[in-house]
Amino acid sequence: MKNRADCRETDDGSYVITGGRPLYGEVEIMSAKNSLLPLIACSVMTEGEVFLSRCEPTSDAENMLGILRSLGGICRFENGGIYIDGRPISGCEVGCGPAGKLRSSVFILGPLIARLRRAEICYPGGCEIGPRPIDLHISGLRALGADVREDGGRVLCDGRNLRGGRVELPFPSVGATENLMMAAARAPGHTVILGAAAEPEIADLQNFINACGGKVRGAGSRRIEVDGVSSLHGASFDPSGDRIAAGTYLIAGAMCGGEVTVRGVDSSHLCRLTEKLRAAGARVTERTDGVTVSGDGELHSPGKVETGPYPGFPTDLQSPVTALCACAKGTSYIIENLFENRFRAAQQLIKMGADITVCGRAATVRGRRLYGADVKAEDLRGGAALVLAALEAEGRSVVSGLSHIRRGYYDFAGRLASLGADITVCNKIT
Ligand code: UD1
Repeated sequence: MKNRADCRETDDGSYVITGGRPLYGEVEIMSAKNSLLPLIACSVMTEGEVFLSRCEPTSDAENMLGILRSLGGICRFENGGIYIDGRPISGCEVGCGPAGKLRSSVFILGPLIARLRRAEICYPGGCEIGPRPIDLHISGLRALGADVREDGGRVLCDGRNLRGGRVELPFPSVGATENLMMAAARAPGHTVILGAAAEPEIADLQNFINACGGKVRGAGSRRIEVDGVSSLHGASFDPSGDRIAAGTYLIAGAMCGGEVTVRGVDSSHLCRLTEKLRAAGARVTERTDGVTVSGDGELHSPGKVETGPYPGFPTDLQSPVTALCACAKGTSYIIENLFENRFRAAQQLIKMGADITVCGRAATVRGRRLYGADVKAEDLRGGAALVLAALEAEGRSVVSGLSHIRRGYYDFAGRLASLGADITVCNKIT
């Protein structure tokens, strides 16, 4: 019986999963993808070498580094982290190829304007989870004095008049808050961002900018203040552990039964999830640097799960938790308040026997026994949800569409196999 993924994952490959095995063991959680992406972009603004620790080459991280390289930056994975030297960067244009590969390419706008006072990028790509406008990024940068124009799928920014200012975000957009913090970090004067996002990744960005000599405060609250400095130096920085990856492994542990521990993540970042896991009947033990979930896999509905900006239930764990509800006794209600297409995985879960009715932003999930099927990941977290369902389901499943999953989970099959899952990677023979 195979208990290790036996070949390297590729975008064209599939996971072959035979469900029904309990999971036992520990997963070491690495730096949060959603912290790393803005931190990589922010490195453009520094005059020195940056080291970001505990990093894995997920495809989103690789693509973000690809953008930096296309601008002249020097980046390499080494010593378990990423070294970035942004000093040689002189380019300010990000073409449609690199920008289209990930939504987070938009993070380069703020740093490029701050450093070179000019930026031109194609509209960002990313997950198919509904319209992802960048109007808040653009209006915020304008409030800081940047002249921003949109022209045929490109965003053109002239930052010669960049200066501190007051921005009031009508919605606490994570990306817009981050872009504005970065632009303001090197804009002369004082900036106040009101209605800011409060996710832990915002605190990471604040701490990184400050480690590089910047002056940012207020992360974690709705009011962030920045005093612009004329230059930033390099720094070595340890971002927070990935709360979404950690949450995914915990949900897998609760669904399959056994005992799974995630280490290297702040348990307080996971409290909305652990509350739901307990409500579903799993045992949860929290420590400062990790969480353990255990049980026999016999779950009942956690009731209502409603996503919201931090400290609300994370939208990125909505699909994985929907998979849990699909096999938990009773009826669960899921309300998605952030991204309207985030129920795409439901159609695929239905192929596995799930009873899910989606109506706009709400889904009703009646727990059933799931069975194996051939399913396709259509977005990152929805793809993870399919893998979790397949681990729990009776029989064999094939999950394709790994390009989506590999954006945010590195060696997903290997880690699950090390917990005892029967999962192998099947690559397409070309
Ligand atoms: C980030 C995360 C993503 C997570 C999301 C919400 C990264 C790399 N990605 O995405 O994993 O799901 O936060 O926690 O950190 N909006 C606008 N106009 C804008 C910007 C956003 O209308 O200019 C809307 C979006 O369409 C969405 C909502 O605001 O409905 C939240 O988006 P936002 O917080 O910006 O998410 P991202 O930064 O894209």
